[in-house]
This record gives sequence, structure tokens and C-alpha cells, in this order.
Amino acid sequence: MSKIQVAIMMGSQSDLPIMEEAANILKDFGIGYEIKVLSAHRTPKETTEYAEQLHAKGFQAVICGAGVSAALAGVVCAHTDIPVIGVPIDSSPLNGMDALLSTVQMPPGVPVAAMAVGKPGAKNAALFALRMIALHDKGIAKKLAQFKSEQRRKILDTKLTK
Ligand code: RP5
Repeated sequence: MSKIQVAIMMGSQSDLPIMEEAANILKDFGIGYEIKVLSAHRTPKETTEYAEQLHAKGFQAVICGAGVSAALAGVVCAHTDIPVIGVPIDSSPLNGMDALLSTVQMPPGVPVAAMAVGKPGAKNAALFALRMIALHDKGIAKKLAQFKSEQRRKILDTKLTK
């Protein structure tokens, strides 16, 4: 595993089954990550303190997963200069629509890269971070190319049984 380059934050431990998808992809690519449970609403002070340290600690990107009125990605973005990737989590009676709008509707000047709701979004968040890392890491660029080629092969090799 390479040095820790990506932070994965989430608003609650209940978000872990979704956000583990991001962690698993980073693990597969050999990229070190740190997981932190912090909430924009429930632990505002600790969240901003953590966000403020991300740049100095050398993180390349931070992935923020949160559900309901998901403020985490926006608040973190307001307190750091590194790229912030938001994952809306479907943990509410609105099935993530609330978190989606909270994550994607950032005011101008607060650039959160919003992913899809739930597990697909968590996976894409990791792949998005990897693409940024690949800009200056040829090994990761090569692994991403292999990933794409395997993904393509799986579709093309599909044999329908019916
Ligand atoms: C959000 O509230 C969290 O991100 C989580 O998705 C949701 C529910 O949290 P718990 O009540 O399960 O802690 O802040």
C-alpha cells in the first residue's frame, strides 16, 4: 500500500457499508487512505478542524459521504483547498434525493464534485480520485487503463442464457 493520499469521510458509521466501496477500490489500486467519521451537523468543530489539516497532511483528494441533508462535502470544501468529491447516501425516507440535492447544489465558489447516489457513487468517487492521482503517477494510470479494458471485456464477453 502506498502512502496515505486519500481521505474518506462520512457523516455516520451507518454510512460505512456504502463508503467501503470507495475504500475497496483504493485498496485494489494500492493507494493508502484514511477513514474518518465526522458530521457537518453533529461534530461541526471537529469536522472543520480535520478539513483544515488535509492539505498540509498531503492528501490528494477527500471523499465525503453523507445522507439526509448532506452538508459534509460542502463544509469540508469550504475549509480545504484540495479536491472534494461528494457521495450522496440513500439513508433517508427520500432514498437519497435529499442528499443528492444537498451535495450537487453547491453555491458558486464551492466546487464539490458530486457523484451518483449510494454504492455506484462511492465506487466512482474512488475512481475519480485515482484519475487525479494518475496525472502524476504513471503506475496508477496504467492500472486505470487495465481496469477500463477489463470492464470493456466483461461487457463484450456477456453470454445471455435465455
Ligand atoms: C447523516 O445522517 C449521515 O451521513 C447518515 O447518512 C444519516 C443517518 O445517520 P445515523 O442516524 O445513522 O447516525 O448525517
